Amino acid sequence: MTALFTGGSGLLGQHVRHLRCNWLYPEQREFDILNLREMQDWVQYVTKRWGVEKPHTIIHAAAMKTSYMVDESPMRAMRVNIVGTTHVVELAEQLGAKLIYISTDYVFDGERGDYLETDPVSPQTKYAWSKLGGECAARMYDRSLIIRTSFGPTPFPYERAYADQHTSKLPVTEFAARLVRIVEEGQEVYGVLHVGDHAGRTMWEYAKGVSPHLDVEPVSRLSSNPPAPKDVTLDSSRYESIFRPKIDKGRRDYDHRKPGWDLQPEAPSSDRGGSSGE
Ligand SMILES: NC(=O)c1ccc[n+]([C@@H]2O[C@H](COP(=O)([O-])OP(=O)(O)OC[C@H]3O[C@@H](n4cnc5c(N)ncnc54)[C@H](OP(=O)(O)O)[C@@H]3O)[C@@H](O)[C@H]2O)c1
Repeated sequence: MTALFTGGSGLLGQHVRHLRCNWLYPEQREFDILNLREMQDWVQYVTKRWGVEKPHTIIHAAAMKTSYMVDESPMRAMRVNIVGTTHVVELAEQLGAKLIYISTDYVFDGERGDYLETDPVSPQTKYAWSKLGGECAARMYDRSLIIRTSFGPTPFPYERAYADQHTSKLPVTEFAARLVRIVEEGQEVYGVLHVGDHAGRTMWEYAKGVSPHLDVEPVSRLSSNPPAPKDVTLDSSRYESIFRPKIDKGRRDYDHRKPGWDLQPEAPSSDRGGSSGE
C-alpha cells in the first residue's frame, strides 16, 4: 500500500515519514506542485524505474503556510495553495488515487467554536482563503477527503501564548499518528473530517500541556493586530465515531499481546494541545 505525500520536508511530513518511511516523499525540486507535467513524469519514473506500486492515496500537505508570507506574496500563495492543489487533484484523478487534503481550522471565523464539518466557513485571512480555495479544488474530485485540523511542534516554540483563545490544536506527533490511521483504515472515508483535540483548551493551556517545564507567558489574543480569533475549536465527533471503535479494538488486541499490532495508541490527554504554528 503506497501513499504519496506532498510537502514531505515540512513539519508534518517529517513526522509522518518517521512513522511510515516506505511512503513516497518527493521533494519540491523534482515534484513542484506548480508543474503538473513534472509531477506526472516523477510518478511515471518511480513506478517504471524503481518498480514502486502506483500510489493508492495522495496526501497533499505542500503549501505556503505562514500567514505573514502569504500576506507579503498573496499571488504566490494563490498559485501554490490554490492552483498547485488543482494540479494535485488532477494527478490523483489520473492515477485513480484517493486524495487527502490537509486544511485548517482557520477556514472558520473563530467567533463561536465547536465547528462541525457542515458549518458555514468564513475565512478571515488571506492564508485561510487560499486554503479554502484548495478545499474547493479537492471537492471537485469525488474520491477526496478534506481534513481540517490544527497542529504544532513540540516543545512549544513561543515565549507567549493566548490565554483567551480556545483551540483544538494537537501536537504534530499526535496528528501524524492520526493521519496514518486515517490513510490506512479509512480508505472509504470521504468528504470533510475535523481532527482535533476535544478538550477545548486555551492556547496557553495547550502550551503548558506540551511543554510543562517552559515558562510560557499568558497573554491576550487582543494583543495581536488584528486580534487572534477567539475560538477555533473543531467538533471531531465524525472522526471519533469512525476511528474510536478501531482504536479501542486496537487497544484490546494490544492488551492481548496480538503480534503485529502497529496502531498508534492515543496520546494521554496531558500530551495534547497545539501551538500558534500557522
Ligand atoms: N502547522 C500548522 O499549524 C497547520 C495547521 C493546519 C493545517 N496545516 C496545513 O498542513 C499542511 C502541512 O503543514 P506544515 O506545517 O507541515 O507545513 P510546512 O512545514 O510549512 O511545509 C510546507 C511544505 O510544502 C512544500 N512546498 C511549498 N511549496 C511547494 C511547491 N510549489 N511544490 C512542492 N512542495 C512545496 C515545502 O517544501 P520546501 O521545504 O521545499 O519549501 C514543505 O515541504 C499545510 O497544507 C498547512 O496549510 C498546518
